[in-house]
Amino acid sequence: MTTNYIGRPISRVDGRAKVTGAAKYAAEYNVPNLAYGCVVSSAIAKGRIKNIDAGDALRLEGVLQVFTHENSPRLAQSDQSYTDELAPPGSPFRPLHDDSIKFNAQPVALVVAETFELARFAASLVRVEYEIEEHATDLKEKRQEAYIPKPRPVLPPLPEPRGDAERAFANSATRIEAEYDSPFEHHNPMEPFATTAVWEDAVREDAVRKDGGKITVYDKTQGAQNIHGYVCNVFGLSKDDVRVVSPFVGGAFGSGLRPQYQLFLAVLAARELKRPVRVSLTRQQMFSFGHRPHTLQRVSLGAAPDGALEALIHKAIAETSRFEDYSETVAHWSAMLYRCENVRLEYKLAQLDVNTPIDMRAPGATWGLYALESAMDELAYELGVDPLELRLKNYADEDQSKNKPFSSKELRECYRQGAEKFGWARRNHEPRSMKEVGKEVGKEVGKEVGKEVGKEVGKEVGKEVGRDGDQLIGWGMATGVWEAMQMTAAAKAVLTADGKLKVGSATADIGTGTYTIMTQIAAETLGLPIEKVTFELGDSSLPQAPAEGGSLTAATVGTAVKAVCDKVREKLFKLAQKVEKSPLAGAKLEDVVFSDGRIALSSDFSKFVSVADAMRRAGISSIEEEIVASPDEKMRSQYSRYAHSAVFAEVKVDQDLGVIRVTRVVSAVAGGRILNPKTARSQVMGGIVWGIGVALEEESVMDQNFGRFMNHNLAEYHVPVNADIREIDVIFVEENDSIVNPLGAKGLGEIGIVGVAAAIANAVFHATGKRVRDLPITLDKLL
Ligand code: MOS
Repeated sequence: MTTNYIGRPISRVDGRAKVTGAAKYAAEYNVPNLAYGCVVSSAIAKGRIKNIDAGDALRLEGVLQVFTHENSPRLAQSDQSYTDELAPPGSPFRPLHDDSIKFNAQPVALVVAETFELARFAASLVRVEYEIEEHATDLKEKRQEAYIPKPRPVLPPLPEPRGDAERAFANSATRIEAEYDSPFEHHNPMEPFATTAVWEDAVREDAVRKDGGKITVYDKTQGAQNIHGYVCNVFGLSKDDVRVVSPFVGGAFGSGLRPQYQLFLAVLAARELKRPVRVSLTRQQMFSFGHRPHTLQRVSLGAAPDGALEALIHKAIAETSRFEDYSETVAHWSAMLYRCENVRLEYKLAQLDVNTPIDMRAPGATWGLYALESAMDELAYELGVDPLELRLKNYADEDQSKNKPFSSKELRECYRQGAEKFGWARRNHEPRSMKEVGKEVGKEVGKEVGKEVGKEVGKEVGKEVGRDGDQLIGWGMATGVWEAMQMTAAAKAVLTADGKLKVGSATADIGTGTYTIMTQIAAETLGLPIEKVTFELGDSSLPQAPAEGGSLTAATVGTAVKAVCDKVREKLFKLAQKVEKSPLAGAKLEDVVFSDGRIALSSDFSKFVSVADAMRRAGISSIEEEIVASPDEKMRSQYSRYAHSAVFAEVKVDQDLGVIRVTRVVSAVAGGRILNPKTARSQVMGGIVWGIGVALEEESVMDQNFGRFMNHNLAEYHVPVNADIREIDVIFVEENDSIVNPLGAKGLGEIGIVGVAAAIANAVFHATGKRVRDLPITLDKLL
């Protein structure tokens, strides 16, 4: 394949629209007669609504309606109608369904008014009386009630035990056993959830419902068709009467995988009021959604004196809501990452009075690898071997959990290149053995002060200042892994005689670069200048695609885009051959190159037919193709397919104050073929930045007395800011994989974050000699 575009660092094709403001987000679709909805959130975690008084709100001029469970129309009755592509087993939450309160900040009313400000003010006047029931929001109190959940359809099953892990552990010469605690986290994308629902009340002959019309829903979502299905099912609308549009998403990280309640409320209000309604949420309300679940993990590792793993037991308990069993792949990875004959995994859930958790960047792996890779570091210290050496000693050349070879696995190369770039060989294994900086700073200051005050004092001060500035240096590392998934997706392509190509699929671009890489793949396949190619997404009316998540979009939609363009290619080639005196007449498709809008013989570029000529001479104004591309399961199922990474981190910890800074991170990633090094690097870098947040900053703090997240704002929910981020190095290790999908790409959305928290936690231990086993590692835990 020629590589005019694939593999090149193409700048985002949607970049200009984004920086100029031309890109519109869900709350930016302004239509005439728009009404504004504001959500009233519950003040308790559990109980029922005794009384809800909207009188004061309704008396204000310009308030159109206050929707509550008392006046909400009867809608679909079955749980099935409220599920979605990614719903876990259970009964999905139904807003305004009845008087019960299932989690704190649950929506209890929607105030709709002529202006946003009025809606928000009126919402403050809605008085709700509750009957409070005792809530449970502390996982540690509920862990005894944990149970093995029903499997979640989209996840692989928990690997079966192998060998006898308990016995092997008991007999191992070197053992470690530790519990790791990781907190509630919320996604906090820049764009809060919002929906603009535009009802067109034209009753049509063919409408299924008598009062039917058409509705266009502008929604913040990772899957326009997932939302489409939900709206149709819940509101009993026919497929053709609903269109969901979501071309731009201001970050989502998994929070937009399922329909969120503002969507339901906006559509409900638009349908009842027969006018367009927008509902956008406040930052506080963003903390009432799904979250990364608080998780407790126990890892037991047993090793022979030479460091060979003999036993691995990984048990995880996570929280879920009372109404759905949300599970994720926390422990799974421990059955495949290292060679070990005796492995047992366990994964349980405990129900709390919270909203159902939802996938959040590298769901499961972020927590699971934090625990496993911290435990590996603890084992390395117990054995007295270098942590990287321990990983290499136990390198898995095949996937023991499935008894299958890997489709490709360049993890060894990740370790090598990452370690080299980081300078790992210069590491001194002893904790607290690497220090820096303080003395020099001290001397300088000392001299300065000395001159003024006198030599004696000067020296004294110098020492003091020196000690204050002393930094303990820590170097830690960890492994990362994520599955290389592919699902079924469709794409359509329209090539017009002016040489312009339009390709489309109902996928999303949540900032990952989907627009760009799909455009590259299409331009590459048909040999067109990239400016001539446009890619459409984020519209339920486009060909079928799954929600963008799980790092599967490049592989899934990319394969469909490639396939549909290949079809156009074949057609074009046939047309080109039919052109009078075609130099391609006797050639085969393999003998030609599509480049610069031409189809040329690869043996002689001067012999060509231009795409425009081929079409014009055949009297064709456009070529349209649509295709459904499915993974080649027959081939794929013979292999285990994963992306890997090796993460190396340096921290500097202030010896006296405990302040931790991550000064360097090197991550070497093996993610198959890199379609665009620029967007790929951004993906991994974003993951690393987030990993720094996971390690040191992020936590949704639950006030157990109220069952309420108390730091529900960006001032107190800490995420990394520019000043927290120093050097970040991303290395892509060459990895050829002809099994995963025709593009050879494994997906990069999640791999960047996996392992980062462990690498940093391990670096903090190396710096301080203190093992902190609950995240985030804040300075108070070091003192
Ligand atoms: Mo991501 S958690 O797969 O949107």
